Amino acid sequence: MIVFNKHYKTLWFSNRTLYMIDQNSLPFEFRIIELKTTDQVCEAIKNMTVRGAGAIGVAAAYAMVIASNEVKSESELKLKYNQIASTRPTAVNLIHGLNEVFSKALESSTAAQIAAEKFADDDENQCKNIASYGETLIPDEATIMTHCNAGWLAFTDWGSALAPIYKAVENGKRVTVLVSETRPRLQGARLTAWELYQQGIEHRIITDNAAAWIMGSQKVDLIITGADRIALNGDTANKIGTLDKAIAAKYYKIPFYVAAPLTTFDKECQTGKEIVIENRTQQEVTHFEGITKQKTTEQIMISNPESLAINPAFDITPNTLISQYITPTGLLPACKIISLKNISRQS
Ligand code: MRU
Repeated sequence: MIVFNKHYKTLWFSNRTLYMIDQNSLPFEFRIIELKTTDQVCEAIKNMTVRGAGAIGVAAAYAMVIASNEVKSESELKLKYNQIASTRPTAVNLIHGLNEVFSKALESSTAAQIAAEKFADDDENQCKNIASYGETLIPDEATIMTHCNAGWLAFTDWGSALAPIYKAVENGKRVTVLVSETRPRLQGARLTAWELYQQGIEHRIITDNAAAWIMGSQKVDLIITGADRIALNGDTANKIGTLDKAIAAKYYKIPFYVAAPLTTFDKECQTGKEIVIENRTQQEVTHFEGITKQKTTEQIMISNPESLAINPAFDITPNTLISQYITPTGLLPACKIISLKNISRQS
């Protein structure tokens, strides 16, 4: 995608180094960082320098390439695999990225790099297909609500939920995107708003708790979100706050679509009950992070200092609230997801 008139991918690998856009600095500063060790990549995934299901998967695949140069035996490589796998639990793309590269990493780091690059290219190609299928759901002059960031920053390029919107605009349709801020880390207000601004797409940021009211009182034609893991029955883990939107959308009869590549479908998982939800620190709820005039990052407390907080990072939307899934192989209702069980995660 285009940033300041130049094409960038979210992350790429060259000369034994993983390069990535630092998503913690956005939208205030556009920075590329360089990672050369497995520990550095693990820290970047944990602290959300790189985040979003697809991008985490690709980062994990490249971390395996880096790991292959750090170890001398299969057992050491397995330890690295476990270290990377434990960084974030909910997005299944991470495990798929690791599995795609692990056996190649046992052969050679060159074989590992070829496998990781294929995984990254596939991520991008699947998102392009999501763009084409999803675009057909968007009428001209549509108002579309989205949540969190499932744009190109969450993948190698294009994105999942935002890809159909990019395609619709490319095809001359006029759209307005309602971007819910996505407390506590504000991926909507910070990242999705920045992405849409860079692409010149009309948008408005809304608070998370304005979503239901806006659905009931203004024109909202459809809602598209991404996903971090989809069970075989269609139950979907996505950023906390997705469930509220799906419930309100059902009430107001607004179509609610989930867009995801094949790497987000978990064929080991029968229903949403089996999905592990990541709990993050209380600090993300009790403090706001922002940038000062001197361009330093600062945290300020925004809640009663003596109160504890809980911070589940994802929720699970039951399949009954989802109108259709926008996949790289087409639009599917929940009952057809099981048919993805036998197709390769790479298309
Ligand atoms: O915690 P994050 O930012 O890694 O959360 C993941 C997400 O960005 C969303 O849940 C998104 O909708 C799915 S990832 C494409």
